[in-house]
Amino acid sequence: MKYFTLDRNLAQLALLQRIELADNKLKKIRKIFGRYLFSKVFSKYFINTKKISENYTRIMEEEFNTIKKFIIGKNNFLSIGAGIGGLELLILKNISNSRVSFIEKNYVSDKIKYGWDNSNKEGYNDLNQLDYFLKNNEISKERYQIFDFDKDDFPTNSFDTLLSIYSLDYHYNFEIYSTYLKKIMKKESILIFDTIRPKYFENIFEYIEIVKEDVNTVHKSKRIACQTFK
Ligand SMILES: C[S@@+](CC[C@H](N)C(=O)[O-])C[C@H]1O[C@@H](n2cnc3c(N)ncnc32)[C@H](O)[C@@H]1O
Repeated sequence: MKYFTLDRNLAQLALLQRIELADNKLKKIRKIFGRYLFSKVFSKYFINTKKISENYTRIMEEEFNTIKKFIIGKNNFLSIGAGIGGLELLILKNISNSRVSFIEKNYVSDKIKYGWDNSNKEGYNDLNQLDYFLKNNEISKERYQIFDFDKDDFPTNSFDTLLSIYSLDYHYNFEIYSTYLKKIMKKESILIFDTIRPKYFENIFEYIEIVKEDVNTVHKSKRIACQTFK
């Protein structure tokens, strides 16, 4: 397997976005020193960037495999809350003529909370880093666009596949995007996201398929693929 090479800045963001990348030593440090010092200092200077790069790549390959059957042959992707974009990079590398639009936040909260965030205040990204990661991996600028959730107008074209991996309805309410999604999703568009309340979406979409179940995590979420708003 060819690993992504993450420099310290990217490895720090990946770790903040994917806390499972923390080893036991880091988890202990977070417990002792608290979330502020962990987010600001330890997540940057107490990490093994090579190990994080390898583990991040492995996780993204696994994510790619869970959604593979829905995305092969598709061209136009929207990703909500992609983080540094490892999964989307694999899509761009593996699917020729694919394009990805990103909607993300452009700040890292002082003390990141990893649960449900009612007011959707938490952000753990840096859009320049996302841009750098894609460019550095030889993705041409014509193949992606980045939208700042807090600033830009969202893309208005329709998409074949819409992804939100451990973001929409996992950390913040689906309602934040529901009007927008209703507007841009075509009948055939597929929206894939992680949620702890899959049943709720049976009243919202015509078709739902469970893609993956996380039974061993605290949240016990399910990844669902949804089609056609009711
Ligand atoms: C747990 S991370 C998941 C990142 C990536 N999808 C992954 O699987 O590694 C959640 C991401 O959602 C982003 N986020 C939070 N609120 C958002 C919003 N309203 N719109 C888009 N992204 C958001 C955060 O900045 C963060 O990068």
